[in-house]
Amino acid sequence: MRIAVPSETDSAEPRVAATPETVKKFKALGAEIVVQKGAGFKSGVLDADYEAAGASLAADAAATVADADVVLRVRRPTPAEIAGARPGAAIIAIMDPYGHEAELGDLAKSGASTFAMELMPRITRAQVMDVLSSQANLAGYRAVIDGAAEYGRALPMMMTAAGTVPAAKMFIMGVGVAGLQAIATARRLGGIVTATDVRPATKEQVESLGAKFLAVEDDEFKQAQTAGGYAKEMSKDYQAKQAALTATHIAKQDIVITTALIPGRPAPKLISADMVKSMRPGSVIIDLAAERGGNCELTRPGETVVTENGVKICGALNIAGRLAATASQLYAKNLFAFVETMIDKETKSLAIKWDDELVKATNLTKDGAIVHPNFGGAAAA
Ligand code: NAI
Repeated sequence: MRIAVPSETDSAEPRVAATPETVKKFKALGAEIVVQKGAGFKSGVLDADYEAAGASLAADAAATVADADVVLRVRRPTPAEIAGARPGAAIIAIMDPYGHEAELGDLAKSGASTFAMELMPRITRAQVMDVLSSQANLAGYRAVIDGAAEYGRALPMMMTAAGTVPAAKMFIMGVGVAGLQAIATARRLGGIVTATDVRPATKEQVESLGAKFLAVEDDEFKQAQTAGGYAKEMSKDYQAKQAALTATHIAKQDIVITTALIPGRPAPKLISADMVKSMRPGSVIIDLAAERGGNCELTRPGETVVTENGVKICGALNIAGRLAATASQLYAKNLFAFVETMIDKETKSLAIKWDDELVKATNLTKDGAIVHPNFGGAAAA
């Protein structure tokens, strides 16, 4: 069984899908691993490290994927990028499938069995494979580090001979995986932290991290969590009450980190242009929702904007990629845990269990067709 790890083709993607640690684990399961030369460089892994772990190196993408049974990637490949793999090979990546049905159709035509790691069910057995959590946790941490770097003042309170420096006030909007890590990191750096969410379960989580919870806690709030643990889109009425509360609070904040997302919907707009206007010069907004349109009205995805009143709004994309080595380490582990379930340990060959709920939930294409029900397929329903 041959597992291929080609380099990422998008220059904005510094992560890699395998590490020397996972290469060793795959070897122990009897697999042969081929890594494209240079694939790990931006994540701090040299070719020699992969070789020392037991991988062989290939000079280019075509030679890497040739005759592969499994291709591990960070981002969705094009059919040309996996052309040499065995018919029906398993191609596993963060596929970003929503809104990319045409690309999925092309991948289907190539005959590949493709799997989207971000569709992994959030059940106990699959926690170790949960890329949304592994990457969001790092993004939450990095957002605070970026916010601190952009902010022209110190974060902790300092009492010095030359005067007292007040602690920075930090506001975290959206307390999922990223938001919780942002709170913990902001507290460690000495900020005074408040946080908000629409899911009632987050109140206790925020308080247990030593931050203050702030939200419109009406009847709608009590019902805002879906059975799957996600937030619902809130009514116009709730949004207006939430905006009024945010408006009075945000004017006093130094660093605001927004992480609010609703599955399958654009990011909710939580910070209006007027709210930004009310903030002090030098304040910073780090908008982790930039990839889904942003939580702030003035966010420009991929850019940092400085407003006329001196507020910096950072809409950086792929924040987890800014910690490429750590992000790759965790992502590679997520992949290994999933692929391990597809390997027959006796025959040391690929043996995908098509009726496994993890396989059904993540499988996008198979035998020339899109099979995932969310993208027009029926087979996996
Ligand atoms: P997410 O990335 O979908 O959203 C981030 C946060 O934004 C959520 O906390 C959400 O409630 C909040 N939000 C949405 N609309 C908002 C609004 N209008 N105003 C303020 N906040 C808003 O969430 P994530 O991080 O993926 O976590 C979702 C849930 O999944 C959580 O309950 C988390 O604990 C749970 N989870 C479960 C796992 C497991 O059981 N294996 C693993 C990871 C997360």
